[in-house]
Amino acid sequence: MSEKKAILTVDGMESPQELPVYTGSLGPDVIDVRQLTSRGYFTYDPGFVSTASCESKITYIDGGKGVLLHRGYPIEVLAEKSDYLESCYLLLHGELPSQGQYQEFVNIITHHTMVHESIARFFRGFHYDSHPMAMMCGIVGALSAFYHDSLDINDSEHRVISAHRLIAKMPTLAAMCYKHSKGQPFMYPNNKLNYSENFVHMMFGTPCNDPDVNPVIARAIDRIFLLHADHEQNASTSTVRLAGSSGANPFACIAAGIATLWGPAHGGANEAVLNMLEEIGDEKNIDTYVARAKDKDDPFRLMGFGHRVYKNFDPRAKVMKQTCDEVLNALGIENDPLLKIAKRLEKIALEDEYFIAKKLYPNVDFYSGIIMKAIGIPKDMFTVMFATGRTVGWIAHWHEMITDGLKIGRPRQLYTGAPVREFPDRATRPSHNPSF
Ligand code: SDX
Repeated sequence: MSEKKAILTVDGMESPQELPVYTGSLGPDVIDVRQLTSRGYFTYDPGFVSTASCESKITYIDGGKGVLLHRGYPIEVLAEKSDYLESCYLLLHGELPSQGQYQEFVNIITHHTMVHESIARFFRGFHYDSHPMAMMCGIVGALSAFYHDSLDINDSEHRVISAHRLIAKMPTLAAMCYKHSKGQPFMYPNNKLNYSENFVHMMFGTPCNDPDVNPVIARAIDRIFLLHADHEQNASTSTVRLAGSSGANPFACIAAGIATLWGPAHGGANEAVLNMLEEIGDEKNIDTYVARAKDKDDPFRLMGFGHRVYKNFDPRAKVMKQTCDEVLNALGIENDPLLKIAKRLEKIALEDEYFIAKKLYPNVDFYSGIIMKAIGIPKDMFTVMFATGRTVGWIAHWHEMITDGLKIGRPRQLYTGAPVREFPDRATRPSHNPSF
């Protein structure tokens, strides 16, 4: 760490506080504020806009330049030259695998894709119209009930096999959610198919036919998983780190990440984008919705636009848009009305002073739903797809947090509630407005 210092003076503080400043390999310097507690101060940063919660070597984002690196490799290069499982290896281990290491990793993941038969009975408790993310939250958390033999987070072998099991089983569980909603039989994984082909087979195959996977769809699925693999300290990854910091088992931590991802401000945005495009319905309505997005008194926001970190194009959105064109052309879907609305909406927004001033650009969720809809994936499965791709990122950060030294995360607060007060008898208490 560098020897730079920050000097903090506060009205009423006896003497200035010297704080260490650290310089990373890329990105802004950070000021270590841990000593402030001993001087009787907390820092205050709701939403963690200016807070580095940890040191990490996994992913780097330059929001101003629209740069996303996974272990130093640009996302555009990985999307073009790599595949999802190779990128999983890179995120987990820090280096690209040799040919032999890649084959061994693929083989390991392939042979962990089945789930315990009892898992199938869990689905009977869900109505057919249960939201798949509700099912995934429950089922993934319940996986820890099957692996009592490997839940010691301090045992690296237990961490590795848990990582392999989660990466391998998420597509199987995701497909089971879809099949449950369709009333169709669950499809077992087929070890002759690669990771993404297998997912397509488990989603759209039936016991009545031999596997018949469209390679265009399989490649698009692989690209979608890859583009969602990791994204630094986003809300769901921070949740996984916080859950893991208590020593919770990896399945419980990933279930917490899935729950956080579900929100429409985060991974739930891809489903919200499709709902928005369908609500807009026609290009002639776009101006009305753009005006609503700019109206402070209207809670409507352009879903799929804006980002806490990117104040330029989300590089994943660029690749996703290109993939969208490729997939729809390959599937012979000409002039998809939603894609036309999305492209027109993007053009209008990017030329609008409000969006330019606030640096609001399309994010990863803006085009992904159009591809998934074209592939035949229903809207309520979109965030499940995001969670499936992001599982490797969550696990990589969980593992990094443990190997960096487990310290339970416990933020403080600015308290503005009631000071100490007397307890009144109920008979004499006045009524109050129980607003919530
Ligand atoms: C993901 O963090 C990650 O890395 C997440 C993610 C990942 O891979 O893990 O990249 C995935 O979650 C992508 C984001 C998906 N969410 C959406 O598309 C939902 C729509 N976008 C937003 O709600 C919003 O942009 C956020 C939540 C993404 C970011 O919110 P911030 O950083 O807290 O910014 P903000 O809400 O304070 O907005 C700043 C200003 C506000 O105006 P003012 O109060 O300053 O006047 O921009 C406005 C907002 O009103 N604004 C929008 C807008 N997004 C922000 N106005 C209209 N439409 C929008 N989409």
